[in-house]
Amino acid sequence: MLDRKAYVADLQDQQVVESIFLVSSTSLRETRNGDPYLCVTLQDRTGSIEARAWDDAAALAARFDAEDFVAIRGRVSMYREVLQLTLTDIQRIDEADLNLRDFLPHSRWSTESLLETMVQLVEEEIESDEVRRFLQALLADTDFQGAYQRAPAAKQNHHAYLGGLLEHSLSMARLALSMGRHYRAYYPGLVNVDLVVAGCIIHDMGKVEELSAGRTFDYTTEGKLLGHIAMGVARVDAVARDLSPPLPDELLLQLKHLILSHHGKQEYGSPVVPQTPEALLLHHLDMVDSRMNMCWNAAQPLVGDEDARPGWTDYDRVLRSAFFLGTPATAPEPVDTSAPGLATGDGTPDDGGDGEAAEPALNNPNLSLFGD
Ligand SMILES: [Fe+2]
Ligand SMILES: [Fe+2]
Repeated sequence: MLDRKAYVADLQDQQVVESIFLVSSTSLRETRNGDPYLCVTLQDRTGSIEARAWDDAAALAARFDAEDFVAIRGRVSMYREVLQLTLTDIQRIDEADLNLRDFLPHSRWSTESLLETMVQLVEEEIESDEVRRFLQALLADTDFQGAYQRAPAAKQNHHAYLGGLLEHSLSMARLALSMGRHYRAYYPGLVNVDLVVAGCIIHDMGKVEELSAGRTFDYTTEGKLLGHIAMGVARVDAVARDLSPPLPDELLLQLKHLILSHHGKQEYGSPVVPQTPEALLLHHLDMVDSRMNMCWNAAQPLVGDEDARPGWTDYDRVLRSAFFLGTPATAPEPVDTSAPGLATGDGTPDDGGDGEAAEPALNNPNLSLFGD
């Protein structure tokens, strides 16, 4: 057994690595010359890295499957501006001695706190009885609650961790309250804030079924065949069906339109483009929140590291840029996250109070700071 875990986020170009990872996917492929090579995605709680084995590929591939834990030996190199591992050995290992928390990425907040905060927001901030009644019925379903708490918001790119969907939806709901109220005051009569908040809570809820949140995140068959947009609309219908008295037809239509149009364009998977002020705002809130999460992911290795800052983040392929995090003159003021009442935890099933040292304060943010 290897005594020290090397985390994906800490890997450096040319580093020789011996460590344990979770296999998210594996396949045996062929080069143009017809030589087999092994293509593996390795993950831990800090991220994932592509690994390749060029020698003995077929024999190595037969030793393990996706979702197995493996001990690997290899060397890190830079390929097309992305770190990659070249494997010399890979071996399936028993999970009995492992702490699963090291391998599953999870939200920095406890998912229970996130859900509680969302339920409270619905109770306290939604002004329309009808919208509140719908959202309360949705969030009261215990099966849905469990899945909503666990689901990632995406397979990769943004909020791709346990609790990510809830974190993303709550963050957007809080933005919707402030931006929605701003535009309601600025352009009187233009925006129904309740609808925008509802849109934030429900827009990606189909991901609960689209992505399986087991050991690795992958699309379910239903998710592949239907997609989260259609699945979200189906859930709106299912929740509405049980409501008595029924919701007004137009409200149901508006709720469905929010889900259907939230990707903004047909080429991004929305069957219709946003055609209400609320849907337009929702689409942009989704863009802002997902992109700021990507930016944070890129910035995280440098944030809080005195020596690394000021500095540039790695290049982000989706955002098509690296980010400059400022000199001491312009870097943001540090936030005090050591206040009492930390609502953290990881919400993973194996969160069993294993007596690990607390993570640094930056990774333990106070939920009350979230979005305020
Ligand atoms: Fe979406
Ligand atoms: Fe989203």
